[in-house]
Amino acid sequence: MKAKIGILTLSDRASAGIYEDKSGVAIKDILSQWLTSEVEFKYQVIPDEFDQIVSNLKNMCDDIKCDLILTTGGTGPARRDVTPEATEAVCDKMMPGFGELMRSTSLKYVPTAILSRQTAGIRGKTLIINLPGQPKAIKECLEPIFPAVPYCLDLIGAAYLQTDESKIKAFRPKKK
Ligand code: MTE
Repeated sequence: MKAKIGILTLSDRASAGIYEDKSGVAIKDILSQWLTSEVEFKYQVIPDEFDQIVSNLKNMCDDIKCDLILTTGGTGPARRDVTPEATEAVCDKMMPGFGELMRSTSLKYVPTAILSRQTAGIRGKTLIINLPGQPKAIKECLEPIFPAVPYCLDLIGAAYLQTDESKIKAFRPKKK
């Protein structure tokens, strides 16, 4: 089964064409390098509007049937940052370990890592993970959490992801 991965960039300025969305592109580049299984990417850039984020997430989960969605941006403390709230609004179950690990690892790079409220959760058979908006934050955040992503997808009945082990190794505990 070909995996479907949604990339949702939340940015008022990138969606208005004021600047280029480098972070969404970085997600696609990194995952294309790491994954050896067949993947189809679904990519959207939208403003930091709660209702639009909710409807795009629902569309990627329920209609497009993405196995994994990575959002970028809108996780900070500013008034328009509402990505974690929109994520929580669509999820059946939250997965707080992803945000905890990304924040603690990110502290090695920037003292402002604690300003990101990034989280993760599951809607049906889709895992949704928030990443910060900074292009350099994409790799910094994906590297620590990605080894656990394929097994999480196995557990929720999503597509099987295979990685290039020379780049990143997926950890799947042996079945008893
Ligand atoms: N995490 C990593 N790994 N690298 C970064 O550069 N930037 C921080 C934080 N997390 C950053 C990071 C900053 S400055 C902010 S304000 C928050 O993420 C929220 O960013 P966002 O609102 O663009 O999502």
